[in-house]
Amino acid sequence: MTSSMESRLSISTCFITLFFFLLKSLFAIDTIPPNQILRDNGQTLVSAGGQFELGFFSPLNSNNRYIGIWFKTIPQQTVYWVANRDNPLTDSSGVLMITATGNVTILRNQASSPVWSSNSSTTSNNPILQLLDTGNLIVKDGDSENYVWQSFDHPFDTMIPGVKLGLNLQTGKNWFLNSWKSLEDPSTGDYTYKIDPQGLPQLVLRRGTEILFRSGPWDGIRFGGDDRLEQNSVFDPIFVDNDEFIYYTFENTDNTTISRFVLNQSGVIQHLSWNQRRGEWVVIAIVQTARCEEYALCGPNGFCNMNKDPVCYCPSGFVPKVPEDWNALNWFDGCVEKTSWNCSSATKFRKYSKLKLPDNSEFLVNNSVRNRMECEQACLNNCSCVAYTYAGTLVTGCVVWFGSLIDIREFGQDGFGQDLYVRLAASEFVIYCYVTRKRAQRKSPAQEVNNPNEFHHNNSDEDDMDLPLFDWQMVESATNHFAFTNKIGEGGFGPVYRIV
Ligand SMILES: *[C@@H]1O[C@H](CO)[C@@H](O)[C@H](O)[C@H]1NC(C)=O
Ligand SMILES: *[C@@H]1O[C@H](CO)[C@@H](O)[C@H](O)[C@H]1NC(C)=O
Ligand SMILES: *[C@@H]1O[C@H](CO)[C@@H](O)[C@H](O)[C@H]1NC(C)=O
Ligand SMILES: *[C@@H]1O[C@H](CO)[C@@H](O)[C@H](O)[C@H]1NC(C)=O
Ligand SMILES: *[C@@H]1O[C@H](CO)[C@@H](O)[C@H](O)[C@H]1NC(C)=O
Ligand SMILES: *[C@@H]1O[C@H](CO)[C@@H](O)[C@H](O)[C@H]1NC(C)=O
Ligand SMILES: *[C@@H]1O[C@H](CO)[C@@H](O)[C@H](O)[C@H]1NC(C)=O
Ligand SMILES: *[C@@H]1O[C@H](CO)[C@@H](O)[C@H](O)[C@H]1NC(C)=O
Repeated sequence: MTSSMESRLSISTCFITLFFFLLKSLFAIDTIPPNQILRDNGQTLVSAGGQFELGFFSPLNSNNRYIGIWFKTIPQQTVYWVANRDNPLTDSSGVLMITATGNVTILRNQASSPVWSSNSSTTSNNPILQLLDTGNLIVKDGDSENYVWQSFDHPFDTMIPGVKLGLNLQTGKNWFLNSWKSLEDPSTGDYTYKIDPQGLPQLVLRRGTEILFRSGPWDGIRFGGDDRLEQNSVFDPIFVDNDEFIYYTFENTDNTTISRFVLNQSGVIQHLSWNQRRGEWVVIAIVQTARCEEYALCGPNGFCNMNKDPVCYCPSGFVPKVPEDWNALNWFDGCVEKTSWNCSSATKFRKYSKLKLPDNSEFLVNNSVRNRMECEQACLNNCSCVAYTYAGTLVTGCVVWFGSLIDIREFGQDGFGQDLYVRLAASEFVIYCYVTRKRAQRKSPAQEVNNPNEFHHNNSDEDDMDLPLFDWQMVESATNHFAFTNKIGEGGFGPVYRIV
């Protein structure tokens, strides 16, 4: 080698090094205009405040290349959004760019047709691609504050503050989470978590089309009476339900917190928070873990209560449809009314409290009803109506159910939840009259009880009972002068008569 060749080589090496240095510093920025590209050689976009980074990456144990956005401040690479999830590149020939009209595209170098495109519907004259400190990747037209396209509109498996899970009722745009196929493969997985806007909106987890779990409706503070996604020291849940939008999202309680809500590869919904000291993500809420959260576990009309063993039971007024199966803990067929009724039967409602309301697939919200009795009447007016709730904290309105009641959970004493009024044959509401021998000549305490088998009392509270007192004459005539046929048993007070 001559010395002139050597110097030329070192000059060009120096030039190449300088070129890459320039290139690298060029991309230590947060925007790309149309005539620039981002290559798969370590180039990234970094949001202005250094919160998020965008670039090519490979998932664990995979050589496929994807454009993703991850938390820049966390050592453990955590990708919250992937562009080309279903169209990976198999080598490092990919580039990210923005077209002159504002489409974000991933191209195999030199190839003309994109591997992936944002397919923006709005054309811009002066488009700029920018990664914001919120983690949102946006396309804006010049200095306009309106985004032509944004990654927040295309959620993946993760919600960070600003990402919504729900519906734009005006455009029909549905934001939902969709799991990765596996840890190695971010392509479209089997699980989705999305808003079901019918009636009282709720979130529904599905594997394919099968419902696995539903949140139950939002009551202003939490979903379905469940306190796990309530406001806490890490995040504030936000639920919006108006004429324009229905969505769930959250905010971190302070700006030093990093947390995310994720639908993972095994279909588990969880909220995680980054623990700086331990250097790891900590699960702060897992949603569908309790046995009673398995969708429709107890079958039609069955109630699920974690404090009971077994967890499934038929509420009062109902009996197992197939007792052999039910007793063998096979709850699939659920419960049926103890006394069946039809359109010509007299019916009344029994109140059950602290429930996650049944699935709303067949219900109707009638906002013109002004009180609970009107709601009850609306239900009585249609003999397919089986239950209603006049929901104070849920909506200002009347919600009714048709068909069977599916996926009801009963919370314990200290739980939250809603009231549900279930329609039963009127004959289920017999008034049992307890006549004390001692006081029979004057007034007699009487009580309406749900189930005579469940009724217990003791003599000591005889005088304290806060119960309607029936006039003796009325009791006498109602029981057909204490006819033997109306005597249905002996209570602690004496014989029990059925009022006819
Ligand atoms: C963009 O459109 C192409 C062609 O219709 C389609 O294959 C692709 O899935 C679309 N990309 C996105 C992100 O929707
Ligand atoms: C983006 O690309 C799609 C598909 O090629 C096309 O239909 C759409 O008009 C483009 N949008 C813009 C803003 O260029
Ligand atoms: C975080 O919040 C504190 C107190 O509200 C504020 O002083 C600080 O500027 C905020 N930091 C950032 C990065 O927003
Ligand atoms: C999903 O989350 C659950 C609960 O934290 C965990 O047991 C499971 O391993 C996770 N699945 C994957 C694939 O990470
Ligand atoms: C409705 O139920 C009553 C008993 O409550 C019964 O006598 C009547 O036959 C039933 N009518 C029909 C149409 O099933
Ligand atoms: C709503 O309830 C009112 C009062 O009960 C009733 O007149 C009206 O028909 C109901 N509307 C619907 C859509 O059911
Ligand atoms: C009862 O309600 C159902 C469901 O909304 C409806 O299909 C049916 O027509 C109603 N029947 C009557 C008699 O109003
Ligand atoms: C009977 O009632 C009294 C007063 O309510 C109560 O203190 C007592 O424990 C009760 N006894 C039984 C056996 O339930």
